[in-house]
Amino acid sequence: MDILAIESSCDETAAAVIRDGREMISSVVATQIEEHRLYGGVVPEIASRRHCESICGVVNEALEKAGMTAGGVDAIAVSFAPGLVGALLVGVNFAKGLAFSIGKPLIPVHHIRGHIAANYLAHKDFEPPYMCLVVSGSHSHIVNVKSYTEFETLGRTIDDAAGEAFDKAARAMGFPYPGGIFIDNASKLGDIAKYKLPKPHTPNPYDFSFSGLKTAVINLIHNTQQRGEDVDINSLAACFQNTVCEMLTEKFIAAALENRCKKIALAGGVAANSGLRNALSAAAEKYGMELYVPPISLCGDNAAMIGCQGYYEFNAGNIAGTNLNAYATMSLDEVRF
Ligand code: KG4
Ligand code: ZN
Repeated sequence: MDILAIESSCDETAAAVIRDGREMISSVVATQIEEHRLYGGVVPEIASRRHCESICGVVNEALEKAGMTAGGVDAIAVSFAPGLVGALLVGVNFAKGLAFSIGKPLIPVHHIRGHIAANYLAHKDFEPPYMCLVVSGSHSHIVNVKSYTEFETLGRTIDDAAGEAFDKAARAMGFPYPGGIFIDNASKLGDIAKYKLPKPHTPNPYDFSFSGLKTAVINLIHNTQQRGEDVDINSLAACFQNTVCEMLTEKFIAAALENRCKKIALAGGVAANSGLRNALSAAAEKYGMELYVPPISLCGDNAAMIGCQGYYEFNAGNIAGTNLNAYATMSLDEVRF
């Protein structure tokens, strides 16, 4: 089954053709990052307009690279929630029109379920059940993946998402948006013991809290500068990244151990972080767990992951009508369309 998938939830317009949920025939991602960088974050109105301009070209390119025409695909999958609603609507309406015109099923895909599914593209034999740590620009979840379409969120952030914390701390350190990758690179040159940063507590042991850590970074920079001293940015980046990775890893591994789960996976944009990948692989080795991580190219937003999850949603009977809408928020566990 060949699925044409479309993704437009934030600042990437993407399309891909995926065969039987596991084989990437083509994948095209058009990023708008350079334009949003000018404003220090994603401007929703600009994102929607750029999606409108790019979507025809991106979909055509994905079909061309696959050597197919729209009429030759078996279904259209689209990311419909969560995300910037104006941005999502561009992909959803394009997908609706295309599915209607070629008379093929329209499959609604939850964006975070898509991030998790990126692992199926990279690891052909990987299948549920397993425990997944999803860390992106807007989500930080510990998810019990019971089947391809059954999810139970055990913990989540109570304030900022992990990626958001990286981006805000990076901004305070003087890096451009999105700053996660800059902190990752700088941290390789820093001393992780130089600064002491707090690890906030949460009432639910599997929830996360990052806003206090971000504030601590901002205060440390201000206080150091007020004393007329220079901040060692590489070391601050290293300490920040190390603290975030320790928090994520400790809670995620504790959840996996408590649920007697020996198979664990990582997903989302922050899954590209080298410190997190190293920390999780060390923990997996220590506890005898099998760890699955997506390749860096599939960590950030892309449509291939949407086509992959779309295949499993289709198999579960999740087909939308032409009344499909886009939603800014939606639980991963209870998808409604
Ligand atoms: O999943 P994603 O592409 O978009 C959302 O769905 O939110 O995640 C984007 C986030 C941004 O916050 C970005 O800074 C972060 O992923 N990110 C990283 C790295 N690469 C991307 N954070 C830390 N280290 C990285 N290497
Ligand atoms: Zn995403």
